[in-house]
Amino acid sequence: MDICVVGAGYVGLTTSAVLAELGHRVTCVDQDREKIELLNQGGIPIYEKGLKSLVETNRKSRKLFFSDQVIDSLSQHQVIMIAVGTPSNEDGSTNLTYVKNVVELIAKSIGGHKTIITKSTVPPGTNEWMIRSLVDQGVDRQLFDVASNPEFLKEGTAVDDSLHPHRIVIGAENKRAAKRVKSLFRGIHAPVIRTSLTGAELIKYASNAFLAAKISFVNEIARICDVYGADIKDVQKGIAADPRINPFFLNAGLGYGGSCFPKDLSALIHSAKLKAIDPILLEAVIRVNETQIDVYLNKLMQRIPGLKNKQITVWGLTFKPDTDDLRASQSIKLIQRLLQTGCSVHTYDPVTDLKNDQVIHHSKLYESVEHSDALIIATEWHQFLEADWERVKKNMNGDLLLDCRNILDPDRAKKYGFYYVGVGRS
Ligand code: UGA
Repeated sequence: MDICVVGAGYVGLTTSAVLAELGHRVTCVDQDREKIELLNQGGIPIYEKGLKSLVETNRKSRKLFFSDQVIDSLSQHQVIMIAVGTPSNEDGSTNLTYVKNVVELIAKSIGGHKTIITKSTVPPGTNEWMIRSLVDQGVDRQLFDVASNPEFLKEGTAVDDSLHPHRIVIGAENKRAAKRVKSLFRGIHAPVIRTSLTGAELIKYASNAFLAAKISFVNEIARICDVYGADIKDVQKGIAADPRINPFFLNAGLGYGGSCFPKDLSALIHSAKLKAIDPILLEAVIRVNETQIDVYLNKLMQRIPGLKNKQITVWGLTFKPDTDDLRASQSIKLIQRLLQTGCSVHTYDPVTDLKNDQVIHHSKLYESVEHSDALIIATEWHQFLEADWERVKKNMNGDLLLDCRNILDPDRAKKYGFYYVGVGRS
């Protein structure tokens, strides 16, 4: 099938490469000329395992194309997949400007029949709105079908998640559209969940909200473990043995970040309130996440009461390991709070840097802790697990190791002479 994917961000780019890999002829379009130029020269705008080679192979075998000629491409393709960004507005609602732009361009350029598939995460009712909007813009109702096909890939494992999804969700207004979407994924073995347009939109939000809720739940339990002297790792293990609970997304830490959970929770809350539903649980999930940083700043200040002029090193800047994405990273929020205390913040990250004049960024792991009073592990990069902890301790002035992702064994850390503080364990 010939497909036009609009948007060359994380989702659009990965989906384009995967659809090409599945045998389709995909043109990925984006109005960002520089990004398209880079992709056409064999470069890649994001750090994502396996994506560069997948893009390269399919580009070379002429199954994957990149273009900044959005309107031409829209008019030439019968199958259009919308994968543009849907960021948050100040009030937590979703900014649908990019989606609306694409809909306008489709309305302007439509000649023959189109199947319009929404991959972007959009609030409940958006696909229904899209139908009305196209008709309002004078498009013949017979000329298009709309389907919603939300994405469940995670950054860092995006390619693998897309090639081996747990489910394919298809929200479609009719059988023809559903069949079309299903045929895109021929070759992928996953259950297909067929629902309405709004059902699919809500599956996406509910999935992310549930995962975020698991994280806030375990983080709250970690706080309780802390005051009663229990180890959250044991509690995690004990509850996860029940298959109704399961071990996934049950790691206590500094809280969730990234471009999806915070934004999607706010959007879902906004959608609920629009219809006079009080989203009690969803708001509590955010509250736990937002206060998680306070909990660990307090722990830092208990050990080092006057932070002014102290040197604190933070390891890991990205919102999780194996990505270069800093969006809504808890680590960045923590650093901003640290800076307010007047301490000197030193940072290290295996793939990125903060580009902030107020922090001293190091490109060498051991150098980053030289003379530091405390080390905070904010993101659980594998490299940190394998660090020479004896050397780390020797380089430091102080002894506080705040392991905000519970990567180290407390007894081992103590053997090296650290004053170890984990999340729900010490
Ligand atoms: C998330 C979802 O997991 C994907 O299924 C979804 O498709 C994606 O959002 C999206 O909507 O596009 P992603 O944001 O890439 O994926 O990252 P996750 O792996 O879900 O991690 C999110 C945050 O939760 C990270 O900050 C991570 O450190 C944190 N986390 C995760 C924990 O604190 N504890 C855990 O046990 C797991």
